[in-house]
Amino acid sequence: MIAIGSDHGGFALKQEIIAHLKERGIDFADVGCYDEQSTDYPDYAKKVADMVLSKEAETGILICGTGIGISITANKIKGIRCALCHDIFSAKATREHNDANVLAFGGRIIGPGLALAIVDEFLNTPFSNDPRHIRRISKIEN
Ligand code: RB5
Repeated sequence: MIAIGSDHGGFALKQEIIAHLKERGIDFADVGCYDEQSTDYPDYAKKVADMVLSKEAETGILICGTGIGISITANKIKGIRCALCHDIFSAKATREHNDANVLAFGGRIIGPGLALAIVDEFLNTPFSNDPRHIRRISKIEN
């Protein structure tokens, strides 16, 4: 299960990602927002983070205008490792090295074609389980 949320700045890209998840038969929960009315990105970061931390969702996707505000917020929540990725290499590396559990985008930064390829790379790449990376992640948590 993927938890997905955005503010108004990420709403249009969220619709594209949802259509893609449906097409791939991937289960998701859309925590909002549900239209392009101005709203506050921290609310959606919290909702998605809660679902990931409770293990209701194994992965989260967050989108705001730049991806910056929503990823800053998510990363303040202990246990969340949110990666703002606008390229495929970063999406792969953050899964392998950081075991990122939330992917963030800027809906005003990236087009849907690249964003969907990044979603696929992020979802398809497992954590490396390399002891160096495990040690570094536990330093983050501590
Ligand atoms: C909303 O206008 C915008 O500030 C927000 O979507 C995001 O870009 C914040 O970091």
